[in-house]
Amino acid sequence: MLPLQKKIKGRDLLTLADYSGEEINVILDIAAEIKQMHQKNMATPYLSGKTLGMIFQKSSTRTRVSFEVGMYQLGGQALFLSDQDIQLGRGETIADTAKVLSGFVDGIMIRTFKQSDVEEMAEHASVPVINGLTDLTHPCQILADLLTIREHKGRLTGLKLAYIGDGNNIAHSLLLGCSKVGIDITVATPPLYQPDMMMLDLAKQAAALNGSKVELGHDPVAAVSGADILVTDVWASMGQESESGQRTQAFAPYQVNSRLVSYAKPDYIFLHCLPAHRGEEVTAEIVDGLHSVVWDEAENRLHAQKAILALLL
Ligand code: CP
Ligand code: NVA
Repeated sequence: MLPLQKKIKGRDLLTLADYSGEEINVILDIAAEIKQMHQKNMATPYLSGKTLGMIFQKSSTRTRVSFEVGMYQLGGQALFLSDQDIQLGRGETIADTAKVLSGFVDGIMIRTFKQSDVEEMAEHASVPVINGLTDLTHPCQILADLLTIREHKGRLTGLKLAYIGDGNNIAHSLLLGCSKVGIDITVATPPLYQPDMMMLDLAKQAAALNGSKVELGHDPVAAVSGADILVTDVWASMGQESESGQRTQAFAPYQVNSRLVSYAKPDYIFLHCLPAHRGEEVTAEIVDGLHSVVWDEAENRLHAQKAILALLL
């Protein structure tokens, strides 16, 4: 095991803020290797006999299936623990749940609302805890995004990424991930839907160390101009359904459509974590168009997470 791989073993993945650019690149290298092995039908039994507990307090297609299939392909198994079914949903504390699960499983993945709940789980668990999305961050998604960008662009450093839309969990994790690996990132949001300023500050600090740029603005055309990568996400995230009317109005000028993408580089790629809402944050011609890499991006959830699991567990 290489020294940087050793440094990652046994850790939690709560936010990309806790990982250096070098460590993120190690995860991506392992992901690329594991993906190649998978494509050549080579076995990767790195987690034989190990179990991942997966707690879901929100819906999921990609995260659930990719973690479950990923564990299986690594020789282990995964348990789907919906909070409708486990005692956590009936008031058992996070701390008690963490301690009990630590006696059964080798790692815990949790998708929930508050970032502090994931932190609390990690504080009380004696096994690695992986953040499968909170209202604040979505680190596993952004590792898959970086893998996808690297595959399509051949590099990460020196690229310009424009994120258009809500200053949400995807925006925050992109800010952290891009600033760490040397991608210049510009985020354009409506004034009332800016990213969290602490997340922005963390990204700016990382950018200063890694020679990348972080910018926040409200003009989608300015953000997209000259970009290599365009990213958007839903206007109303899980838990914000009741705000969708007012959000639709505020976000209308931020739709990624053929007019907006005409300002990007001619060979731009389009990413979206999915699920997408065609006709809202993105038009069908863009998400289903020639520049879209969303299906590779979704598949890369599997490969990126297998690397995370193999390294952490
Ligand atoms: N992108 C993503 O996390 O998708 P799911 O909500 O389907 O897991
Ligand atoms: N921002 C979205 C991402 C879904 C994968 C949400 O939190 O609902």
